Amino acid sequence: MNEGFDPDVVTAYERDTWNRCADDYADTFAGITGETVPLLIESAGIGAGSQVLEIGSGPGHVADMLVQAGASVTGVDFSANMVDVAQSSFPGIIFQQADAEELPFEAESFDAVVANFVVHHLARPETVFREINRVLKPGGRFVFAVWGAPEEQSSIGAFFGAVMAHHDMDELPHGPLFGVTERSVYEPLLTQADLQDCQLSIHEMIWKADSLEPVLKGFWDWGDMAALPAETQANIKETTRDNSKAYEKDGRYAFPHAILFGRASKA
Ligand SMILES: C[S@@+](CC[C@H](N)C(=O)[O-])C[C@H]1O[C@@H](n2cnc3c(N)ncnc32)[C@H](O)[C@@H]1O
Repeated sequence: MNEGFDPDVVTAYERDTWNRCADDYADTFAGITGETVPLLIESAGIGAGSQVLEIGSGPGHVADMLVQAGASVTGVDFSANMVDVAQSSFPGIIFQQADAEELPFEAESFDAVVANFVVHHLARPETVFREINRVLKPGGRFVFAVWGAPEEQSSIGAFFGAVMAHHDMDELPHGPLFGVTERSVYEPLLTQADLQDCQLSIHEMIWKADSLEPVLKGFWDWGDMAALPAETQANIKETTRDNSKAYEKDGRYAFPHAILFGRASKA
């Protein structure tokens, strides 16, 4: 588990980052993050009539897929911009601005809680896991997906390799589970929150894109690259393109990513 960053600094950094990414997220990272949803639906046993809470709902595409699976869904996100985008894209779904550390719901309200690419951004995962346990009905399931091992992330690797080649990067503030995939870390955190039967598995998902632009735009927003000098930006773009050639065929891209899936249940 990562230690050393002040949780309040992580929270502020994450909220700023996702506010900045909100307008374009549906056309950038959603291209990979939507890939995990069918497996999460299966793992949580979500179907017609399931009451589901999605935490860190971003621009709402995951909530929409859960609704299409028959669930009644509420999305929460602490980024006001993400909530605005989600609500205008999917007016039939309820999205609320809230920190997952303090969920605005009664105890035992949901059959399942879904967190897609969120857990590794949490400043205080132990607090969020306790909240998830509180709002789950007995027997309810918590399911999540996060990036797998950092060295198995092709698009992220192409971008980070380029950043390291052209720019001195300070270590970014990140939460305790950023880049963490070990069962020895997840299991105690979930158990301390009274969540049981921790199951973890790795699956490969592909980020398919018709050009490199969605990938570049996503990382540009996420890393606040526009704040860098124009020449540095141009160099990083060029090297990201070079690093991505291995994943290109006929102008289209297919970036393989190892994704860690987790599941735990409330007794
Ligand atoms: C990488 S995005 C994932 C969005 C979406 N779930 C998906 O699968 O693409 C992470 C989202 O989690 C939200 N988030 C991070 N920490 C949060 C917290 N403590 N409470 C609520 N939302 C949080 C961010 O604002 C952001 O929208």
